[in-house]
Parts: sequence; C-alpha cells; structure tokens
Amino acid sequence: MTAQLSVTVSRVGAGIGARIDGVRLGGDLPEDVVAEIRTALLANKVVFFSGQHHLDDAGQLAFARLLGQPTLAHPTVKGQNHTNVLAIDSDYGKANSWHTDVTFVDRVPAISILRAVELPPYGGSTVWANTARAYDELPDALKALVDRLWALHTNVYDYAGHVDSTRIGGIDVKERAYREEFESQRYETEHPLVRVHPETGERALLLGHFVKRIVGVSPTESRAIFDLLQNRVTKLENTVRWQWSDGDVAVWDNRATQHYGVDDYDNARRRLHRITIAGDVPVSVEG
Ligand code: SIN
Repeated sequence: MTAQLSVTVSRVGAGIGARIDGVRLGGDLPEDVVAEIRTALLANKVVFFSGQHHLDDAGQLAFARLLGQPTLAHPTVKGQNHTNVLAIDSDYGKANSWHTDVTFVDRVPAISILRAVELPPYGGSTVWANTARAYDELPDALKALVDRLWALHTNVYDYAGHVDSTRIGGIDVKERAYREEFESQRYETEHPLVRVHPETGERALLLGHFVKRIVGVSPTESRAIFDLLQNRVTKLENTVRWQWSDGDVAVWDNRATQHYGVDDYDNARRRLHRITIAGDVPVSVEG
C-alpha cells in the first residue's frame, strides 16, 4: 500500500468543485482516504486531482473499483484496452454540449472518472454545472411544476438541436463512423425531471442533451421548459471550469451534475479516458 500524504480538500468555486491534494490515485488507497474522497465528491459534485502522471488505464480502473462497480465503457461504443475505459477522442467527436453521462439507460452511471491522456496546446477545458443547486434555487412554483414532470432520454438525439449546427454538415468519416456506433442500438428511457439523490437525499434536475422531449406536453412547451431549466443549470455562477494539465484526473457525481467539453482548441488532438461507475434507476420526488 502506498503511503498517502495528508489529504487536503480546497474549494475552487462557491457552488461546485474542489481540488484534492495529497493523494496518489490507484487501487491501493486506504479506506479512510477513499471515504474522504467520497465525502468531498458528494459535497462538491466534482473533485480534481493533479500530478497523477503515474496513472494508466489499469491504474485508473483500479482506483475506479474503490468507488463502485465500473460499467462497460459505453452501452454501444467499445472500450479502449480495458472494456471499461472509454476514449473521449477529438478525432472521433467532441462532447461540446451540456449533458449528464449516459442518461438514456435505466440505470444512469453514478460517478464518472476522467483522466487527461493527450491535451491540446491551448483550450480544451471542461465545465461542470451543479444540478442540485439549480433545483434548489428554483422558485417554489417552478419546483412544484417540475417535481411531477418526466422526460424521454435517447442516445439517438437531435444533434442539430443541441450541437453547433455549423459542424453537422462538416463532420468527417471517423466522426460519422463513431456516431453510427454510438447509435447502433437505440435506447429510449423515461426519467423524472427531478431525481432524489440516493446518498445525499438532495433533489437534482435531470436533463441534458440526451433529452428528446418532456412527457405529456406539446413539443413547443417541452422546448420552453427544457430551455428554462437548462438555463438555470448552466448559469455561470452554478459552474466550475477546469483547464486540464497532464496528470489531471476529474471525478464527478453524475447524479448531481452536467458537463461540457469546450471546443476551443482548433484542430489539435485532445484525448481523455473515462470510466463510469454503475448507478441506480433515478427515483422521483414521489418515490
Ligand atoms: C465527457 O463527456 O465525459 C467528456 C467531457 C469532455 O470532453 O471534456
């Protein structure tokens, strides 16, 4: 077991995000350190580690196992090296729209762990938003409305509606092939718009780019409700932005966040490896 330095947790924003120092990530962390990481994660929604240059896919996976049961890399996209490791690779597409990971399945992953592998010379940060805080700050009248709504999530979503439409006609062969693999099996799942967090009991908005429509209202009303709530989620004061450096790892609570990979690095290559931890079927405020 590797000796750990003293662990410190420092907030990096008022509403979301903390960095954790004094931890060398791997599969051999003592239980009390894992407990500290988990507590910081639940409180801050996303935590950042720097200087983890020693970590490779196997080490990332070993660390992931301390937080829960890793899922397959993705329901449709095959993994890298280990079947649980998903390559987020700019050559195959960019995650530059707001989303929570893999919400189109019944059991939405609980936690995601993202590791920098190859970074562009500039740009390429990731932004996270706190969906529990966004719910908490809604006026009571809006809470009463959204508490009862459900949304249909799918992996075959309307890219043009969410992603910069100037890129749609221009995607290349690799990106098109990746998208075909991504959509090779169609998933459609209804989730409550407000989910109760299984560990903290907090209520959080469950939306993002996999939402196709809100159930039981017209398409126009669905769009209006979606935009109203997404605008609350992505309000800058409700977000934290992380500029990646080599050796960085981010861990987020996928039950209380959305994120966005900023596409501001021109044609440079950007690669990050992600592992997700299995989660529960989201539970509504009605149980
Ligand atoms: C992701 O969606 O998991 C990756 C986000 C990013 O590319 O920064």
